[in-house]
Amino acid sequence: MRNFSFYNPTRIHFGEGQIDKLAREIPAGSRVLVTHGGGSIFQNGVWQQVEQALAGYTLTRFAGIEANPQFDTLVKAVELGRREGCDFILAVGGGSVIDGSKFIAAALCHAGDPLDLLTGTRAKAALPLGCVLTLAATGSESNPHGVVTHVARQEKLPFSSPLLYPRFAILDPRTTFSLPARQIGNGVVDAFVHTLEQYLTYPADAPLQDRQAEGLLITLIEEGPKALANPEDYAVRANLMWCATQALNGLLGCGVPQDWATHMIGHELTALYHLDHAQTLAVVLPAMLAERREPKRAKLIQYAERVWGIEGDEEAKIDGAIAATRDFFQALGVPTRLADHGLDAEAIPQVLAQLERHGMTALSERRDLDLDASERILLRAL
Ligand code: NZQ
Ligand code: ZN
Repeated sequence: MRNFSFYNPTRIHFGEGQIDKLAREIPAGSRVLVTHGGGSIFQNGVWQQVEQALAGYTLTRFAGIEANPQFDTLVKAVELGRREGCDFILAVGGGSVIDGSKFIAAALCHAGDPLDLLTGTRAKAALPLGCVLTLAATGSESNPHGVVTHVARQEKLPFSSPLLYPRFAILDPRTTFSLPARQIGNGVVDAFVHTLEQYLTYPADAPLQDRQAEGLLITLIEEGPKALANPEDYAVRANLMWCATQALNGLLGCGVPQDWATHMIGHELTALYHLDHAQTLAVVLPAMLAERREPKRAKLIQYAERVWGIEGDEEAKIDGAIAATRDFFQALGVPTRLADHGLDAEAIPQVLAQLERHGMTALSERRDLDLDASERILLRAL
């Protein structure tokens, strides 16, 4: 196992009715900037619960953080928060609202151009942030990462700082009952791929991390389809929510090699062609596994045996595992081909140009995935 340092300060309040804990978590007298997306929190009653829990606080509400949160929108929230003297941020929504709110939290403490924070300047301070999660997928609720879209530059810009761990996260599975089928599928795929990217590399003498990852993968395989079939099954939603948080709260990746190439290629597909985040992953991941069959051989076989229970010779196991992964995504209603999104080979050169512009020319756990390999992956994904 490799050396590692692990730190995760986010307090999780998990379960039904936990939105009530807001007043315990946010200091009395705080001026709270409440951030959210479109209308979902009004339709499913989450906003009413938040407002009730925070009766007596000074609340300033900022609406309209879009999926793949946009820099120009977030800057408006920063202006509002500054004007109103807000000193605490409460994000109510999915990964986009939480990511966007991390940026707002840092930008409110940054004297210069807020774009600096997305182009290499690390945050030196940030307002305290809490969140009420309404979509289980990204893990943003208890990690220090965020991704903001700059529309004019056609870029998804990642940022990260230990200052941006949410102070607390409220995970009430009931808030996810109202998700449309597309977002249920997206959430399961995102959590599944986060897990694979910290697992499906090469053996690293880390049997505990392997079994933690396999536990998450098997649970997602079992529970994901149940959420689509029966959206108001609380137990299923609870299991999915906890899986998604654990898939990217830092624990799985301790001491093991990681391969975020699928995410890096996927981010370019979203920036250029506006696919949902998880839709890009479902397209790229099966093609990635096929292309990286040799460097990932030992773990592909382990994945086939332990997660999918596939028998046979080594080649059959690897083929079977890749096919099962593709079938699983499709059964969740998430397409696995670029063609399903109306994209053909003409889309590929632009993706490669973006990868090059962003220095994504030595990806993977071995840093040997160059632009030619990315091209082969995208061709396999057609
Ligand atoms: O805007 P509203 O009306 O709330 O609708 C949202 C949005 O349209 C809707 N939604 C959320 N909760 C709902 C609901 N609809 C009904 N009922 C509910 N309970 O779902 C739509 C998508 O929401 P979004 O937040 O965009 O989805 P997700 O959680 O998948 O977040 C995706 C973003 O997270 C980033 C992605 O790049 C993308 O920008 N990621 C962040 C990561 C991180 N911070 O660690 C890691 C990930 O790999 C990912 O890159
Ligand atoms: Zn993701």
